[in-house]
Amino acid sequence: MAEHSILLVGAGDMGTQHAKAWAAIGQPIAAIVDMDEARLHRLSDTHAVDRRFTCYEDAMAEMHDADIVDICLPLAFHLPVTVQACAAKKHVLCEKPLARSLDEADRMDQAVKAAGIKFAVGFQRNLPPWVNFLRQDVQAGHFGHPLLFTCDSMAEVRPKRFMHDRYGNNGPVVDLLQHYFLLWETVFDAKPVDVAAFGFIAAHDRPEIAQFPEKAIDTAVVTIRYTSGDVGSVTVSWGLAAGSRIAEAPDRLIGPKRVAMPAASPGGGWTLYEGAHEVHQPFPQVNAHALQAQAFIDYVDGRREEPPSSLAVGRHLLHLSLAALRSIETGRVVEISET
Ligand SMILES: NC(=O)c1ccc[n+]([C@@H]2O[C@H](COP(=O)([O-])OP(=O)(O)OC[C@H]3O[C@@H](n4cnc5c(N)ncnc54)[C@H](O)[C@@H]3O)[C@@H](O)[C@H]2O)c1
Repeated sequence: MAEHSILLVGAGDMGTQHAKAWAAIGQPIAAIVDMDEARLHRLSDTHAVDRRFTCYEDAMAEMHDADIVDICLPLAFHLPVTVQACAAKKHVLCEKPLARSLDEADRMDQAVKAAGIKFAVGFQRNLPPWVNFLRQDVQAGHFGHPLLFTCDSMAEVRPKRFMHDRYGNNGPVVDLLQHYFLLWETVFDAKPVDVAAFGFIAAHDRPEIAQFPEKAIDTAVVTIRYTSGDVGSVTVSWGLAAGSRIAEAPDRLIGPKRVAMPAASPGGGWTLYEGAHEVHQPFPQVNAHALQAQAFIDYVDGRREEPPSSLAVGRHLLHLSLAALRSIETGRVVEISET
């Protein structure tokens, strides 16, 4: 495998995960960027990276030897850093969500095509083997038909305040639910038909996010219907009071013949229920970020035709998030017709 040279932009939570992933697959990090110097030095020290920058423009101008830019910054920076990386003819792995708007997504697409570089967006959660196992089991008819894939996800106001900014990561409907949308359409092997959603801003009077003139929807029920007749549904809130300890409902895949949910046992895996009969399906523990990093390198080196998640997939998932927000705003079911 060819050795590449990574410019890691962002040393926060995702930057830390990506740095571990590059180390796990033996690809060297040439330089790290973060405007927060404490984080920059902590992550750089951990991975013995000497080249450190607080400004991504400086890093891009100086790091001629880096051939891959790995973007782990808040959503507002995905477009400008991608455009700079394209101008410098570097391949890009960009954290999800792809962009804040379809217009931004299209500008990224144009920059990527004009530069002829390879691009992937980071939906690593779809890569562990259990996702493909469920897809195959569903397609083999073991669950019967139709299906409901459902879960809920509950959290306090997010410590990363940009998550609540309408013009930042735009709340869970944009920032989080795209992982579920991708999972559902992978397992159903079908296209979305329409979306119905209700939502509101539970944390509207919380002082921690008072600085944002427009706050994101933080609490919603989003339901998508697929061409297969299957339905995906999630209840999400990032508006819980501090200290709330509410148990979340995990993923549940519900069919007329079989039901599945993650096993409660510490070893993980899934439990499949057929009436009173239960089967435990174990899966090896995997580092999904390392799977993603390897898949991206294989794509760059030509060993793989497609990226782990393409720019088009990122745009499609953003389109679904925006349709869900439109449904919340209008109180209507929104048809998914992509342009
Ligand atoms: N794939 C996943 O499962 C997953 C999970 C969490 C977050 N994310 C995504 O990853 C991205 C980053 O999120 P995070 O959780 O790592 O956030 P974070 O706040 O932990 O890290 C972001 C880092 O970017 C730095 N930064 C911000 N603006 C900068 C700038 N202009 N120049 C240089 N540094 C700057 C901050 O100092 C911070 O260290 C977001 O788009 C988020 O949605 C993806």
